[in-house]
Amino acid sequence: MKIFITRKIPDPGLELLRKKYEIEINPYNRVLTKKEIIKGLEGKDGLLCLLTDDIDKEVISSESKLKMIASYSVGYDNIDVKFATTLGIPVSNTPGVLTNATSEMAWALLFSVARRIVEADKFTRAGKFAGWDPLLMHGKDIAGKTLGVVGTGRIGSSFAMKSKGFNMKILYVDGKKNKVLEEELNAKKVNLERLLKESDFISLHVPLISDTYHLIGEKQFKMMKKTAIIINTSRGPVVDEKALAKALKEKWIFGAGLDVYEKEPEITKELIHFDNVVLQPHSASATTDSRNDMAIMAAENMIAGLERKIPPNCVNPEVFNK
Ligand code: GLV
Repeated sequence: MKIFITRKIPDPGLELLRKKYEIEINPYNRVLTKKEIIKGLEGKDGLLCLLTDDIDKEVISSESKLKMIASYSVGYDNIDVKFATTLGIPVSNTPGVLTNATSEMAWALLFSVARRIVEADKFTRAGKFAGWDPLLMHGKDIAGKTLGVVGTGRIGSSFAMKSKGFNMKILYVDGKKNKVLEEELNAKKVNLERLLKESDFISLHVPLISDTYHLIGEKQFKMMKKTAIIINTSRGPVVDEKALAKALKEKWIFGAGLDVYEKEPEITKELIHFDNVVLQPHSASATTDSRNDMAIMAAENMIAGLERKIPPNCVNPEVFNK
């Protein structure tokens, strides 16, 4: 069988696939256009894609041999899973292996914004450090403060658990009660409004679905403390980026740490000029181990799907009941 891979992924995954199948990889170091993906898919049985690919009805239906879609990502809002399901095509993702890497990035951003690390680094490199100064670079304390976690699935829970040692008060928003966080951290389930009003740090860990699109907009920024810091390592469109720029410019909040953007790779221009925002290039899962494990997981899902077995991380297992 033949597989199309929309961009080079780490070797451990490619090696697994090469042993069994003929693979074709995007030869360019860039995201492919829809036309290029459709061309690459011609005559292929499997599609291994990324979160940067728009895998819509047109792409999915372009190759009648297509039997499996394995995403090299945990989020799959870019894939029309519903449509794939109607065609009986399994879709898989890569959960778990990037949980720590992503929650660690959320903490890295939180520290960077709270302690103004990037701003201070630029200042120091620019030769502006003129000796210890009692009023220089005051940031925000972290220990003992209130941490608001929006979404306590795998990554949100891992992020909350990493607050151990900082003796923080934990508030969370989720559809379900999180027993572990309540028992281990005395976390309190609250509504979004209360979380936004009471938290010193707000970290977003929800998937992008219609209910979470622009979950945080102007109204929500206005509810936050003037000293609050917001961290987004989930999906860009969960935050109204224009409203965020306004909130940062007009100092409704202290700062923001972003790994994701509303219209990647574009970034709302003003954000680039603010000192109170730290920007990452959607790289929260980018550790060597995490990315290797994601590649292996995507390959294992692909192999299972092509052998008509339920892939270990199938997001539409109902296709196997048909
Ligand atoms: C990264 O954003 C992922 O969904 O894996």
